[in-house]
Amino acid sequence: VTAPLVRLIAERGAVRFDDYMDLALYHPEFGYYARGMPRTGFAGHFVTSPELTPAFGALWARAFEAAWRACDEPDEFVVTEIGAGEGGFAAAISSLATDRFAAALRIRIVERVPELRERQRRLVPDATWVGALDELQPVEHGAFFANEVLDNVPVRVVEGSPDGPREVWVEAQGDRLVEVTRPAEDDVAGFLRHIDATLEPAARFEVPEAAAAFVRRAAATVVRGAIFFVDYGDSTKGLLERPLGSLLCYSESGVDDRPLERPGEKDITVHANWNVVIGELMQAGWQVAAPTKQRTFLEALGARELTSAYKEAHEEALREGRGADAVRALSGRTAIAGLLDEGGLGGLDVVAAFRGNSPPTGRPR
Ligand SMILES: C[S@@+](CC[C@H](N)C(=O)[O-])C[C@H]1O[C@@H](n2cnc3c(N)ncnc32)[C@H](O)[C@@H]1O
Repeated sequence: VTAPLVRLIAERGAVRFDDYMDLALYHPEFGYYARGMPRTGFAGHFVTSPELTPAFGALWARAFEAAWRACDEPDEFVVTEIGAGEGGFAAAISSLATDRFAAALRIRIVERVPELRERQRRLVPDATWVGALDELQPVEHGAFFANEVLDNVPVRVVEGSPDGPREVWVEAQGDRLVEVTRPAEDDVAGFLRHIDATLEPAARFEVPEAAAAFVRRAAATVVRGAIFFVDYGDSTKGLLERPLGSLLCYSESGVDDRPLERPGEKDITVHANWNVVIGELMQAGWQVAAPTKQRTFLEALGARELTSAYKEAHEEALREGRGADAVRALSGRTAIAGLLDEGGLGGLDVVAAFRGNSPPTGRPR
């Protein structure tokens, strides 16, 4: 049976790799995400931090509260989450914020998949939704947050050759998809020059043109406050040192680097290019710190104290013979260890930007 996306490309003719990635992930009927099945969490193909434990949202609620304080505690502070998945993060923040910050907090979600919007609505009924970043009205005070979203923004793929960069396109041959390369158009060559990327022959590079536009739009949705991107990523230089590129696919059969096989059944991810992300944010007038590891970032928000609290609760429950409570406390502690594990989720990078206020300092109560 020929996969529907292969048929579609056979009818349309060759598509550029970024357009292929967009179809494979977001085609309304056949795209991996657009089909609306659970992708993150234990029922999905990979586990993200918010799906692992509500402690992730609880710790981040402190970062948003610190950003609210740094804006002089406005009456309204809008946290916009893009690509909210199953909604666990938004739910954790809205239920764990306290006092005057809770009263000021509004949650907006940008979600392009209708089924996900429905599942999110059940968890965070008070949030508001838009379907696309372009539809967001800028807010005076707030924070923009994206966890593992940039890595799903389609990239153009170029390959060095003795005659200059060539670009990867995708075409159908029989019942499968194959790669073909064409001389890179001037715009992509210009983008490479702009970010100072020179390609060795046969080396591949993922050109984050759409991610740059995504960050530019995100940067315009908040006047004063913070912007946070959490993702696997690297510098342009680091990415150029990976001659095969950073592209990886996740599916029920595990991890592979063959995005053209089984289109629509796999997640396709690439590392974020932090130079490009930070460059766009600074260009828009944001103050940006160098990427920090999730482990360090969450520790600064109090992850260790939370671990100690779970440890005490575990020991106390054991002493008092409350078995179910003991198991709950132990699994809470194990989940936080998962958020901090540098070989896993703790190795994600956090890029934080601030504008119109001094960077939040200290830990809120
Ligand atoms: C790996 S999942 C992460 C979901 C969630 N943030 C989490 O951490 O569990 C990536 C999500 O980003 C969403 N996404 C990617 N590009 C988007 C865009 N331009 N607008 C809205 N959502 C987007 C995808 O639909 C997908 O649900």
